[in-house]
Amino acid sequence: MCGIVAAAARREVSEILLEGLRRLEYRGYDSAGMALIDEKHNLKIHKRKGKVSELENAQRQHPYHGNTGIAHTRWATHGEPSGLNAHPHISGQRVALVHNGIIENHAALRVELSEAGYEITSATDTEVIAHLLHSSLSAGGSLLQAMQQTVVKLEGAYALAAIDIANPDTVIGARKGSPLVAGVGIGENFLASDTMALRQVTDRFIYLEEEDLVCITPDSLQVYNADGSKVQRPVERIKEGLETADLGSFDHYMIKEIFEQPAALEATFAGATNAQKVEERFGLAAPALFDRVKKVQIVACGTSFHAGLVARYWLEEIAGVSCEVEVASEFRYRKRVQYEGTLLVVISQSGETADTLAALRNANADEFLGSLVVSNVDNSSLVRECDLVFLTRAGIEIGVASTKAFTTQLVALLMLTLALSRRRGLSESRQQDIITALQYLPRCVQQTLELNDAVQHLSEAFISKRHALFLGRGIQYPIAMEGALKLKEISYIHAEAYPAGELKHGPLALVDDDMPVVAVAPNDELLEKLKSNLEEVRSRGGELFVFADKEAGFANESRVRILPMPHCHEVIRPIVYTVALQLLSYHVALQKGTDVDKPRNLAKSVTVE
Ligand code: G6P
Repeated sequence: MCGIVAAAARREVSEILLEGLRRLEYRGYDSAGMALIDEKHNLKIHKRKGKVSELENAQRQHPYHGNTGIAHTRWATHGEPSGLNAHPHISGQRVALVHNGIIENHAALRVELSEAGYEITSATDTEVIAHLLHSSLSAGGSLLQAMQQTVVKLEGAYALAAIDIANPDTVIGARKGSPLVAGVGIGENFLASDTMALRQVTDRFIYLEEEDLVCITPDSLQVYNADGSKVQRPVERIKEGLETADLGSFDHYMIKEIFEQPAALEATFAGATNAQKVEERFGLAAPALFDRVKKVQIVACGTSFHAGLVARYWLEEIAGVSCEVEVASEFRYRKRVQYEGTLLVVISQSGETADTLAALRNANADEFLGSLVVSNVDNSSLVRECDLVFLTRAGIEIGVASTKAFTTQLVALLMLTLALSRRRGLSESRQQDIITALQYLPRCVQQTLELNDAVQHLSEAFISKRHALFLGRGIQYPIAMEGALKLKEISYIHAEAYPAGELKHGPLALVDDDMPVVAVAPNDELLEKLKSNLEEVRSRGGELFVFADKEAGFANESRVRILPMPHCHEVIRPIVYTVALQLLSYHVALQKGTDVDKPRNLAKSVTVE
């Protein structure tokens, strides 16, 4: 989703801005732009539809230079992806502005500004902000006052960075609902949507809080809170090595991240050698809160939502704790009834997903016992706003389609299950059994990765297909959902997941020799029922691809192809089977020639509603 980079320096910043945009590419976008104030104090702007490389070409052909600048990758919401709608937006040849978020009252502001004589040329909700800023500046206010007067007129979410030729060494930023960090340098300061964008120039960051304004020049960085008072926010140093985004020998981030899973899973579980240590990972305040939990309400989006659905099986079966799971975009707007003693658990790789954040913020103070976030990004908004935090240790995830973040979320949720089940009388031996299974997990995942060639072979059957059906039963049903989501996200094949028992209530009508059916078939108590469901498919001409425990008794036969999965403890099977389905999607997409890491229309971090 939209990415912002801005710099105020004593040196030329165009290359810093472009490198920042390249580092934000993983978020997903469809146009890019950059504005600089040159040495004669003129605004110089390049904007291009498409990739950052198009912007680089423009800069190569017509180089612009300046020590102050802003840049942006845009993920279209209002108005098609185009050079015109790309940011920065300008007003009066004086002000240039970039924006991440959605301004909900842009239509009313358009009318107001048109009446005041401003010509609005783009279809975006952003351009009005540039004109509002210009209008305040023209009335004689300082840049800071102009931004203060502007943001109070905005309804919706924003992270902003703006420059004004009358203040040629300054960038002003603001945030509400969308992320913005300030990067601290020597003789230079920066703003960006995330720290990744600025790691080439600094390792010191200030995480801006809701409704903060920030003013940077090469030699100063001042934050103001919503009241307009100067405030000091802590400067945090990012540790070396935590945010490397090197492809190494891999062709894509997605496959690199799939193969990083044994290490990521191990890191997430590291040190949790007994139930007490498992609990410590949730923080000092966890025991007192966990003691009072009677129910869990999970809220998340996308792949993280699927992690929640898996957790529901664990929480109810192992911990005996009632659990509900809902997508954040529904939860946030629904009138709800909560039982006393409910813990709100939000799951978010990025910690910035707008709907999940809004769901947390909309929760009434008396509705929940407290909140826990499972996230992969320290200092993200959700991490800062929840009572308890579990940080997965997946390392940065660049591929838009989530892989290692999902499986590490599952480890975190199984650890939550353990922490809650201790209090509900789960025997010591069963607790230790689960811990041993988790310790064995990286090895099982490694064995699954060794099936890469076999999965690649299976994947060839999908390339010419337009649809696919994924089936699972019990805890493997959400894994089938995640498999279907992965396939549709990156290969653009329409894929649906069904609990296998629902087949004859509808989807069986779709089955023919053009509809591959993928079944997730571990060796569990529902196996015999699943086998009957699969026979229903086969006898109707469907072609089956069964990801089955090698001891489950499946054999390759006509219209049935088997991927023999390593035999592993039932509690970790959802995680292990996920890895095989990730490989399937990757290989299908690879052969279809889609942009695996940056699928069309999707964004890594969805910071708008
Ligand atoms: C986007 C991403 C998905 C992700 C979802 C939720 O749609 O493309 O991969 O699952 O957002 O993101 P979160 O960061 O909250 O887990």
